Amino acid sequence: MVIYLRGDLGAGKTTLVRGVLRALGFGGRVKSPTYTLIEQYDLAGLNLRHFDLYRFRDAEEWEAAGFRDEFDGRNICLVEWPEQAQGLLPPADLEIVFDIRPQGRALDIYARSATGKECLAALSAHC
Ligand SMILES: Nc1ncnc2c1ncn2[C@@H]1O[C@H](COP(=O)(O)OP(=O)(O)OP(=O)(O)O)[C@@H](O)[C@H]1O
Ligand SMILES: [Mg+2]
Repeated sequence: MVIYLRGDLGAGKTTLVRGVLRALGFGGRVKSPTYTLIEQYDLAGLNLRHFDLYRFRDAEEWEAAGFRDEFDGRNICLVEWPEQAQGLLPPADLEIVFDIRPQGRALDIYARSATGKECLAALSAHC
């Protein structure tokens, strides 16, 4: 699964990923992958990959760093700053757009594939 997280600096993208990991039972420190570009979490029977592509510049790095292989259909990839790797990233199943409000954040969630629609339906059923 591929989930794009779109929003300005400080919009809450990393905070959301932190919340997802905590909800899945991860008790460690969730670092922002600002410099490493990727952090990996294998837990609860899931393979999560957290990308922050804000500093991603060089298209050649995509293959060299093995990023293409991460989008293998088994991983759940949460991607901050997907616009930085346009043309390299596979399309999103879900897209989450963050908007900073005076009190907290507003999020719009878009399903972009059949898998995304299934996921969004399951999420709505829990709200
Ligand atoms: N829903 C929220 N309500 C209030 N504050 C929030 C919320 N989400 C995040 N914040 C606060 O906003 C700040 C920035 O959040 P975060 O690092 O998650 O942003 P980001 O979108 O990942 O930014 P960047 O693009 O720089 O990676 C943090 O101090 C965090 O506590
Ligand atoms: Mg972040």
